[in-house]
Amino acid sequence: GVAAKIAPSMLSSDFANLASEAQRMLDCGADWLHMDIMDGHFVPNLTIGAPVIESLRKHTKAYLDCHLMVTNPLDYVEPLGKAGASGFTFHVEVSRDNWGELVQRIKSKGMRPGVSLKPGTPIEEVYPLIEGEYPVEMVLVMTVEPGFGGQKFMPETMDKVRALRKKYPSLDIEVDGGLGPSTIDMAASAGANCIVAGSSVFGAPDSAQVISLMRKSVEE
Ligand code: DX5
Ligand code: ZN
Repeated sequence: GVAAKIAPSMLSSDFANLASEAQRMLDCGADWLHMDIMDGHFVPNLTIGAPVIESLRKHTKAYLDCHLMVTNPLDYVEPLGKAGASGFTFHVEVSRDNWGELVQRIKSKGMRPGVSLKPGTPIEEVYPLIEGEYPVEMVLVMTVEPGFGGQKFMPETMDKVRALRKKYPSLDIEVDGGLGPSTIDMAASAGANCIVAGSSVFGAPDSAQVISLMRKSVEE
C-alpha cells in the first residue's frame, strides 16, 4: 500500500509554545506537522499565516503540511514558499478557475501541491486536477466542515475516499477532521494513508500511543 503519514494538527496545540509542541509531536512519532491556515473568510475562524510558519521553520526540519482554508490561495504561495512550507494544499471550491496556475506556482516555490474538498463537494471535481498537465500530488478529503478542531467525523465522506483510492492506487489521500482511535479504521479501510488528527492526539494522555495506533491501522 501507500506509506502512512501521521500528521498531528497543530491547531490543537498550545500556540504560545509552538516550537516545543511541534518537537513533542515528532518525538511521539509524527511524520508531518499539519498547519491550518485560515483567513476568517473562507471559514469563520482565523489562525496563523506565513510569519508563524517562518518562525516555526527556524526550529524544525519537519515536513510542514499546510492546509489553506483561505479564499485567495494564490496570494499565499510566495509568502509560504519563502517561509519554508513543505506542502501547500488549497481548496477546490475557491480554485475552480485558476488551479493550473496555482499548482505551477506552488511547484516553482519548491512546495508540494495538494487539493482539498469540503464534505459537500463531489469528488469528481478534483479528478481534472489529478490528471491535468500540472497535477496535484495529494487530495485532502475533509471529514468535517473546515474551520474548527474537535468536530465529529462524518462517515459519509468515506465514499469519496473509496472512489479516489479505486481510481488512483498510489495517490496520497489525506483525511482531516474527527480522526482518532474510534474512527481511524473507517478511514484506513476506505483507503486514506495521510491522517490528520488534532484533538485526539493532543487530548490524549499518551499521544505517542494514539499516533502508533493510527499508523498500524493504515499499514494493516
Ligand atoms: C479543521 C482543520 C483540522 C482540525 C482537525 O478545519 O482543518 O485540521 O484541526 O482537528 P480534529 O482532529 O480535532 O478534528
Ligand atoms: Zn486541516
